[in-house]
Amino acid sequence: MPGRPSPENKMRLLGIETSCDDTAAAVVVDGYTVESNVLASQDEFHRAYGGIVPEIASRQHAETINAVIELALRKARRGFDDLDGIAVTCGPGLPGSLVVGVAVAQAAALARDLPVFAVNHLHGHLFANYLENREQPNHPPPVTPFVCLVVSGGHTDLIAVESPSRHRVIGRTLDDAAGEAFDKVARILGLGFPGGPAIDQLARSGDPRAFDFPRGLIRNAGYDFSFSGLKTAVRYHVDAHPEDVERRCADLAASFQAAVVDALCEKTIRAAGDASVTTIALAGGVAANSSLRTELRRRAADAGIAVLVPPLAYCTDNAAMIAAAAFYRGEQGQVRPQDLRIDPNFAW
Ligand code: KG4
Ligand code: ZN
Repeated sequence: MPGRPSPENKMRLLGIETSCDDTAAAVVVDGYTVESNVLASQDEFHRAYGGIVPEIASRQHAETINAVIELALRKARRGFDDLDGIAVTCGPGLPGSLVVGVAVAQAAALARDLPVFAVNHLHGHLFANYLENREQPNHPPPVTPFVCLVVSGGHTDLIAVESPSRHRVIGRTLDDAAGEAFDKVARILGLGFPGGPAIDQLARSGDPRAFDFPRGLIRNAGYDFSFSGLKTAVRYHVDAHPEDVERRCADLAASFQAAVVDALCEKTIRAAGDASVTTIALAGGVAANSSLRTELRRRAADAGIAVLVPPLAYCTDNAAMIAAAAFYRGEQGQVRPQDLRIDPNFAW
């Protein structure tokens, strides 16, 4: 077991996440029991700009990180003395954002003589599937091997997970990430930022078959994705029929969402079938999408494949998943506090 086991032989980690625009801290025991999970969203500061402004993100992290960590410890009824280590996101992400979490983790680890774990944010999304799920009490951790679809604002990756410490990237987007496509199309439709939840909501009252938008590389061999052609198709449609933004916005949102979900489901289920695995796990902010959750479950059930989906709060960025990743990857992520560095391009 990595780190320093606590008296009750449990591994209690403080997770810290500041890779993008959410300031988050959590206390998690054995990569499973979430004693607290605190998040300060910066949406209100970025909304006026229609996207994330890196300088604002960095400044907000610096202003709130200490309060967020204090609140996470208070909610967990723990102090630094109860911790067995600190897990912090080192990348990928915005340099000015990452540096805030890493500096605080480094200072706390040195001051309190605690082990520190450098966590890849994408591993965090994957290990969100290992956290407790109050919607399914006592669910066991996912049994390997399985295929994980990580769909976020910056990534759309298909991962073959062989064990908690071994995985391979088997597919990825060749251009825009799925979440990025949601955000860009939401902007085209005037739905504001962040776009994913807005499209998800509006699509419920729209017809997903109203417009036949392209499905990227859906017929190609291999498991790569492409979403920039889809985004451009929505833009061309809106340029040619500007009145549809007013009159048929829900249909446009639903048809766009259906195209994304179709491509994601098709490739993911095919990858799982080819690998002969019986479990698919979903992860990342776009895993919060209601249509993706329902449709993937429905189509996978037809193929005899089970689908694991983390609770909503663990799909979008959070710090509990960072603590879980550190627990499961153990010594693979442990570094000396003085060696802790950001890695904005940290690869899988
Ligand atoms: O994982 P995440 O919180 O941050 C990154 O690591 O990127 O993902 C954020 C992305 C954004 O693009 C956001 O629009 C999208 O997740 N998202 C959604 C939904 N909720 C968040 N996309 C579609 N439907 C949603 N309900
Ligand atoms: Zn993320």
